[in-house]
Parts: sequence; C-alpha cells; structure tokens
Amino acid sequence: MLRACRGEPVDRPPVWLMRQAGRYLPEYRRVREGVSFLEMCRDVDRAVEVSLQPIDLVGSEAVIMFSDIFTPIPPLGVELDFAPGPVVADPIRTAAQVAQLRVPDPRESVPFVFEILRRLRGELVDRQIPLLGFAGAPFTLAAYLVEGGGSRDFAQLKRMMHREPDLLRALLEILAEMTVGYLNAQIEAGAQVVQLFDTWAGLLSPAEYGEWVQPFHVAIARQLDRAAAPLILYVNNGAHIVDFMADSGADVISLDWRVELSDAAQRYGDRVSLQGNLDPCELQAPPERIAQRVAELARAGRLARGHILNLGHGCLPSTPVEGVRAFTAAARAL
Ligand code: CP3
Repeated sequence: MLRACRGEPVDRPPVWLMRQAGRYLPEYRRVREGVSFLEMCRDVDRAVEVSLQPIDLVGSEAVIMFSDIFTPIPPLGVELDFAPGPVVADPIRTAAQVAQLRVPDPRESVPFVFEILRRLRGELVDRQIPLLGFAGAPFTLAAYLVEGGGSRDFAQLKRMMHREPDLLRALLEILAEMTVGYLNAQIEAGAQVVQLFDTWAGLLSPAEYGEWVQPFHVAIARQLDRAAAPLILYVNNGAHIVDFMADSGADVISLDWRVELSDAAQRYGDRVSLQGNLDPCELQAPPERIAQRVAELARAGRLARGHILNLGHGCLPSTPVEGVRAFTAAARAL
C-alpha cells in the first residue's frame, strides 16, 4: 500500500474499501448496539474493534480508523448530532457565528482519536498492515455546516457562495487550518497514510472548483508531513475536475466510477497514483463478474505509477458481505 501510494514497484495492487467498517457487517452492528454513533466514535475499545474487523472478515489489506469526518467539529463550538447523517443544531450562516469558531489543539479536544490510532498501530505493526487516518476537506465540511445537514443541491451553501463570498472563504480558511493540525496530529499518532474526503466538491463547476476547493487542497497538501504519510485525495462525482485533483499536491487521487481508470492512468499516472474505482453497487454482482471487473481495473491501473484497488464511494448498508469478499479475493488472486 505504501509503495503503491509513492509509485514504487509492487507485485499487484493492494486492496481496501471505503466504509469497510460499517453497517453492511453484522459484526459491526453488534458492537454498535446500544450506543449512539457519536458515543461509538469516542469509545476507544469499540472503535478499535470495528476498525480491525475488515481484516479478517472481508480480507481488507489496510485499516482505516473508525471515526467520522465530523469528529473534530463539536470542539470548534458547533452542536452536532447524527440521525443517521450529520445534523447541525444551528447552521452557520452569519459572520458572528464564523467569528466565534475556535480551532483547539486536537490532542486536547479529541484525544480519543489519537488513542484509537496508537492502539491500532500497536495491533497492526506485526501484521504489516498499513493504518490510514482521514479528515473531511473544508468544502465538504462547510457544505454540511452551512446547510445544517445533507442536501441534494446545497442551495444554502451556494447562496453564501454567491451573496457572501468573504464569509464562506473565512469559514473555509478556519476549516483548512483545523484540517492541517488534525491530520498532522494523526500522522504523529501513527497514521501511515491520510485520506482527505471532499465528497461534495463535485457539485461545483470547474471554475468554481478552481476558486473554492483547489486552493485549500493545495494548501493542505503543502502543510502535511508527507514524508511520514502520503496523502490520498478523494472527490466524489468529480469526473470534470480530475485535472485539478492531479495538480493538488496529493500523492494519490481516489476516483469514482464515472472516470475511466485507463484514461486517468494515461493522463495523470506518471505524476500521481490512482485509487478506485468500482461502483459499490457492482458488489451485488456474482463473484465471477466481480473478479472480471477487478482484473479490468488492475490492468488499467498498471498504466499508472501506482494503483490501489478500492470502490468509487463507500460500502452501502445494503452491500453484500459476499461481494466484498469476492472483491478482495480477486485482488489477492491477481
Ligand atoms: O470504514 C471507514 O471508511 C471509516 C469510517 C468512516 C465513516 N465515515 C464512518 C461512518 C469514514 C471515513 C467516514 C467519512 C464520511 N462521513 C464522509 C466522507 C466519505 C463519504 O462517504 O462520502 C462523509 C460525507 C461522512 C458524513 C456521514 N457520516 C454521513 C452522511 C453519515 C450518514 C450516512 C450513512 O452512510 O450512514 C455518516 C454516519 C457514518 N459514518 C456511519 C459510519 C459507519 C454510519 C453510522 C451508523 O453506524 O449508524
């Protein structure tokens, strides 16, 4: 995994899945019983247990710490709940609200995150399995904070973009500062790779992406301890902005299924490694079909300096465990 991130030679692409620790696993649902999602994120024992589950249960070759992109948000001074997606009690819409946000030292405000990482690293070091940390990117975090929750078109966010651009920029700058400190603290606690999730940045036109997203990715990539941990950048629905992703400074760009992997490999594969990009819904297919798709993706990925087999978005609650096993087994059989 680490070699693939850096574009060094490997025998075959490593495999893991976004949202591999989650509700499609009965074993996850059992650990999650009786606690809220936020409690679970703060419960070091439970978080460590579900982070490790995908190694043996589905054959994943990397561990992503169990947490959420919203874990570092409440300490900024934002009241937040999950139902089941994030819900912000008081959506951020005014300059006074932005002025009140504070960026505390994450080691003090969310110490459990780093305890989870240290424990996981201790468990994984002998098994030679890499540990991933992660954070939400400023645009995606801002989208939820301004909107108050998930949305189809994020009209409130776009309203702020067009009516009060300076306010949105101030919010994004605070979130970028938080993200840099948070990811560097994760690397210090043992994360060997970090992934930045910008799930909603694909909502924007290329010109808007260049103004509202790219400068923050570039700034974050520049300020991370990348010698210690390579950076993976994920954008969903971003087929129109892959040029930007490749120029962001990330070591790996994580693509969804709307991008043809062989095209991306030919265009960008000498500069960045690629991650992806099976539609999670394809894990519903019979195992032979999944194996064929893995072989196709791996063939395309060989045109790039490095490739990590993964999905184009996270496992869904309805994803069949058998499909996930077929995916990792096919990777190992390459
Ligand atoms: O296995 C892993 O990938 C690690 C853990 C992880 C979670 N969320 C756990 C989770 C990671 C990396 C995330 C990232 C995340 N969270 C993103 C970016 C990636 C993406 O999926 O686009 C976003 C946008 C969120 C915000 C979020 N968290 C939403 C919208 C939801 C509700 C929708 C859903 O899928 O349930 C969550 C809750 C959440 N985060 C769950 C898990 C396992 C389900 C919670 C439960 O057990 O009820």
